Amino acid sequence: MSHSQQNSISELLYQSNGLGIAAFIQLLTNKFPGQVTFSSSFSYEDQVVTHEILNNQLPVKIFTLDTGRLFAETYSVWNSTNDKYNTKIKAYYPQANTLQEFVEAKGPNSFYESVDNRKQCCFIRKVEPLKRALAGNAVWITGLRAEHSADRTNLPIIEWDEANQIIKYHPILHWTTEEVKKYISVNHVPYNPLHDKGFVSIGCAPCTRAIKPGEDFRAGRWWWEDADKKECGLHVHENTTLSS
Ligand code: ADX
Ligand code: SF4
Repeated sequence: MSHSQQNSISELLYQSNGLGIAAFIQLLTNKFPGQVTFSSSFSYEDQVVTHEILNNQLPVKIFTLDTGRLFAETYSVWNSTNDKYNTKIKAYYPQANTLQEFVEAKGPNSFYESVDNRKQCCFIRKVEPLKRALAGNAVWITGLRAEHSADRTNLPIIEWDEANQIIKYHPILHWTTEEVKKYISVNHVPYNPLHDKGFVSIGCAPCTRAIKPGEDFRAGRWWWEDADKKECGLHVHENTTLSS
């Protein structure tokens, strides 16, 4: 990170002090007009951020990465979100030819066979589309929460993403699960019904399962892999391996 990037992150951290989420996003959109974007997977967390943005009519571009392997429930909550807020959340898709070649060569469920295959699938279905979604933006808002994984515990709420050359803002990083649930309920925010069935962190259907009480929050993602391999490449950090 260059000195000017470091200064800009420090300044934003200072400016965020004492501001609510909507007020700080407003500040970001004033500072970077047309260059603030939010990625939603329609999780509990992302729905909180979506409500903050749409309920306050903040000029943030909301997008989702439709991997083609999401749960039926995820598509339903996407639909009810569009309806409730009278919006049309933008979707980014994998490159058709690349995906077609990959699935033809390896089969539709090759991610269970090796970490390499799994990473390739995540790259084609998420990471490459993410690069297109972020292009031209200055700020990327996420719904990351520290409780979700040990790697996320020490994240700052605003950081420089070297891999994507963008400022990242994680507004609900330090919220507890109870706070998220309460916000969703009080504000009547549509949410993924899988959260009521033991699903905590929800990604693609073949790679996500419910967890038991007391299990690690990430235990339901890519459960057949070693914990240190469980990253899909969306959230990459300098000096460490990956956050997710
Ligand atoms: S992941 O790295 O394991 O896939 P996780 O499910 O914890 O990510 O979600 C963390 C944040 O990444 C979400 O709050 C959201 O901002 C972004 N994200 C994850 N999956 C998607 C997706 N399919 N589409 C858009 N954003 C996503
Ligand atoms: Fe493919 Fe699973 Fe990664 Fe989704 S989570 S992109 S299905 S490997």
